[in-house]
Amino acid sequence: DRYILGVDLGGTNIVVGAMSVDGTREFGMHEIPTRAAMGADAVVERIVQLIERVAAETMAATGASRDALLGVGIGSPGPLDRERGLVIFTPNLGWRDFPLRDRVSEAVGLPATLDNDANCATLGEWWRGAAQGGRNVVGLTIGTGIGGGLILDGRLYHGASDVAGELGHATIDSTGRRCGCGNYGCLEAYASGPAIAERAREALAGGEPSSMPALVGGDLSRLTAALVYQAAREGDRLALEVVRETARLLGAGVANLLNIFNPDTVVLAGGVTQAGDALFEPMRAEVRRRAFKPAVDACRIVPGSLQGKAGVVGAIATFAQQQGLM
Ligand code: BGC
Ligand code: NA
Ligand code: ZN
Repeated sequence: DRYILGVDLGGTNIVVGAMSVDGTREFGMHEIPTRAAMGADAVVERIVQLIERVAAETMAATGASRDALLGVGIGSPGPLDRERGLVIFTPNLGWRDFPLRDRVSEAVGLPATLDNDANCATLGEWWRGAAQGGRNVVGLTIGTGIGGGLILDGRLYHGASDVAGELGHATIDSTGRRCGCGNYGCLEAYASGPAIAERAREALAGGEPSSMPALVGGDLSRLTAALVYQAAREGDRLALEVVRETARLLGAGVANLLNIFNPDTVVLAGGVTQAGDALFEPMRAEVRRRAFKPAVDACRIVPGSLQGKAGVVGAIATFAQQQGLM
């Protein structure tokens, strides 16, 4: 059998794994933290070390030789240039025009491909996860940033210069909050993990009682979206209000996507899936209020099922597609 390695580079973590070409067996899926402050060279070094570890584990588990490792699919925050393998601009890592594909490929001695991390996660959920069977799929990944992916008529859509699917930078308030991309009022500036935590801190500034400060030992700089969801599940009123507001904002964003793309599936991946029905139910209700009924009736809105693995699985799938293997 033959194997493909995958890398998912995020604003908070790097995940690396491998799969058999037919998608039935998985190896590795190891995760280590990244920070913007690390700089690109240190990030590449970590990626290469993890690839070597997963390559060794894959060969040990299967008895395969190095020749059976076909290459590496890399998913990175974008926008990026797939043909030249460049990451053009990633506010959440602070990179510009960085030749990520070739740096990794040369260091490990394997061919590599580069695609957007959220395109990869969407493709991953479609190949092996919650969006299986869809033909027109919109994916949203909610983490350090908000990413998007579009599968139209069964193919990942990249647009004229690989920017298609930057759904987190759709404007939802033209004079709204400043976004990391430099624009104002992007969905990402309201509903990314850090933005959810920030809105919770603002809500707490009103002085109403809440269980959230106790969850972070009084240090609100440690508040995360995951803790806001936890407090909401435990019935905290302020946290619930932040989650409901997030659901309304995401619902408005998703309603736009229904009217624009008329997808059969919208899949939301990343930390947001931990919020569960407390977020998904009011979000679906907001979509029903805003989008055209035939678009709503034709579409399921589901949480991703691959958890932290969607990006890696999809990076492997983009390599396989670009090499004509699937
Ligand atoms: C970037 C996207 C990326 C997303 C998730 C956004 O800020 O613009 O390219 O997919 O973050 O990492
Ligand atoms: Na994308
Ligand atoms: Zn933006």
